[in-house]
Amino acid sequence: MDYSKMKIPHHVGIIVDGNGRWAEEHGKKRSYGHKIGSENLEKISHYILKKTGIKVLSVYVFSTENFKRSKEEVDYLMDLFTKKFKRYAKRYQKENIKVIFSGRRNPLDEEVLKTMDEITEMTKNNTGGILNFCLNYGGHSEIVDATLKVFKDLRENKIIEDDVNEELFGHYLYQDLPPIDFLIRTSGEYRISNFMLWQSSYAEFYFPKTYFPDFNEEEFDKAILEYTTRDRRFGGIDYEKKNS
Ligand code: IPE
Ligand code: IPE
Ligand code: MG
Repeated sequence: MDYSKMKIPHHVGIIVDGNGRWAEEHGKKRSYGHKIGSENLEKISHYILKKTGIKVLSVYVFSTENFKRSKEEVDYLMDLFTKKFKRYAKRYQKENIKVIFSGRRNPLDEEVLKTMDEITEMTKNNTGGILNFCLNYGGHSEIVDATLKVFKDLRENKIIEDDVNEELFGHYLYQDLPPIDFLIRTSGEYRISNFMLWQSSYAEFYFPKTYFPDFNEEEFDKAILEYTTRDRRFGGIDYEKKNS
């Protein structure tokens, strides 16, 4: 699809969901769904950041609540993240993509933290798109952690109470990113499950039935076509348009 003349979102969020059900429907273990899902994530993030003009992509790959899953599944996912980040550091570097992470470090293990730090460091000066992995991420935790940082700066007199407003608070979040314009959750679930609560306040939502491993370029194009039909008002009214 030719994106050059389209009204495209600046920041897209994807809640990567349905890997387990996809695997079950194919008669495989959940882990196989995560493996194919992770391969799809590589393809679709490349397409989004390199072929469409979209500048920022946040992908929800592990929530703070996902630690409630079996040890076997959590270990598999952590190992998968470690392998992927190790393997793809060079690729993102070559593609000029800046990789960043949102989430709590605790209780992630050393191995995965090390690969996260390496890829962050290696790609930190890249300017051709931002890929934000939300890993051990929770929207509630993010707001609590930002609040604690604000308290600390107040205590240390780096800011005063009068400075604290929505704009300033936004800078204390895990990453200083623009708001989410378009939020996609695959697999037909209609909820945000603690994803970027602050940043999604005026996001447009899109809930395709497709499980994430099948969410390909064509599906993404369909999503963007839907986005172009949305009338974003941000609480205001376009009186001129209404009267014409
Ligand atoms: C999304 O797929 C990946 C993660 C949450 C890590 P799920 O594992 O949630 O797949 P379903 O929802 O059980 O199908
Ligand atoms: C949300 O998916 C978290 C990620 C996609 C990483 P879940 O599958 O964990 O969410 P629920 O439990 O269905 O709400
Ligand atoms: Mg799920």
